[in-house]
Amino acid sequence: MQYQEKAGLIKTKKEDESMYLQDIFGLDGKVAVVTGGGRGIGQVIACGLAKAGAEVVVISRSGAEETVRMIEKDGGKSYDLRADVTDEPQVEQALASILERSGTIDILFNNAGICMHQSTMEATVEEFRQVVDTNLTGEFIMARAVGRIMIERGIKGSIINMASMSGTIVNIPQWQCSYNASKAGVIHLTKSLAVEWAQYGIRVNSLSPGYIATPMSVDLSPQELIDAWIPLMPLGRMGKPEELIPPVLYLASDASGYTTGSDLIVDGAYSCQ
Ligand SMILES: NC(=O)c1ccc[n+]([C@@H]2O[C@H](COP(=O)([O-])OP(=O)(O)OC[C@H]3O[C@@H](n4cnc5c(N)ncnc54)[C@H](O)[C@@H]3O)[C@@H](O)[C@H]2O)c1
Repeated sequence: MQYQEKAGLIKTKKEDESMYLQDIFGLDGKVAVVTGGGRGIGQVIACGLAKAGAEVVVISRSGAEETVRMIEKDGGKSYDLRADVTDEPQVEQALASILERSGTIDILFNNAGICMHQSTMEATVEEFRQVVDTNLTGEFIMARAVGRIMIERGIKGSIINMASMSGTIVNIPQWQCSYNASKAGVIHLTKSLAVEWAQYGIRVNSLSPGYIATPMSVDLSPQELIDAWIPLMPLGRMGKPEELIPPVLYLASDASGYTTGSDLIVDGAYSCQ
């Protein structure tokens, strides 16, 4: 291993242990914050993070008692707090309560988001602002507040910003320019924070799913729209929220120690076409 020493790399004791690959995805002793975790992807990921060993704090606008119950039923540790991610004082207050109760924040799954389907000519500037304010500014407010805590306390944490394949491609046949623009912003916000905070050992990545069956994508869409999407998907089906747990565990855990500033696309090859 002389070449590693020549490159200034020091092998850790953990890398010598035989359990390395099993341990490296684990989150025992970590505190994870999930926004928008009262339903949909956030709820499923909150449960996945708890199963991997993290204590999970679910932040939502209207309470996430169901998510907390699901985690506790499986023997995990969780509690929920109310905050609107676009409201900085509410976010600061929620994070202060987490520090008081849990002592630290190691992982942020910055997931809360909204989508509006309307053509560019139909959308009002107010509606455009609402989507960008929630998806981009909301993630900025959360990431910055958590990043500040990590920097001040020397926590080498992981921040996972929820983007979307819509940050890279333009969905059809529905029009949603505000959503697409907001998610493209999340991808570049992520890269910017990753470079800025690398000096503190904080990793920042984005996750870009394709169509995942949740209240946002399915309940709010007419059947004809869902029927129009399926033939456009190389795998011939939507993704399940559970299929995002392993990618999130990768980004949240030590397994992704050298991964920062990445946009992990999990879209069944939709964006390859
Ligand atoms: N479902 C998909 O196909 C898909 C694909 C790619 C990306 N995403 C992204 O994943 C994330 C979760 O989506 P989902 O499908 O689970 O949607 P969802 O509507 O089921 O859940 C979104 C959650 O975010 C919360 N939320 C919205 N605005 C908030 C705010 N201002 N403050 C706090 N919480 C707020 C909602 O209350 C809800 O609980 C979103 O960012 C979405 O853009 C979803």
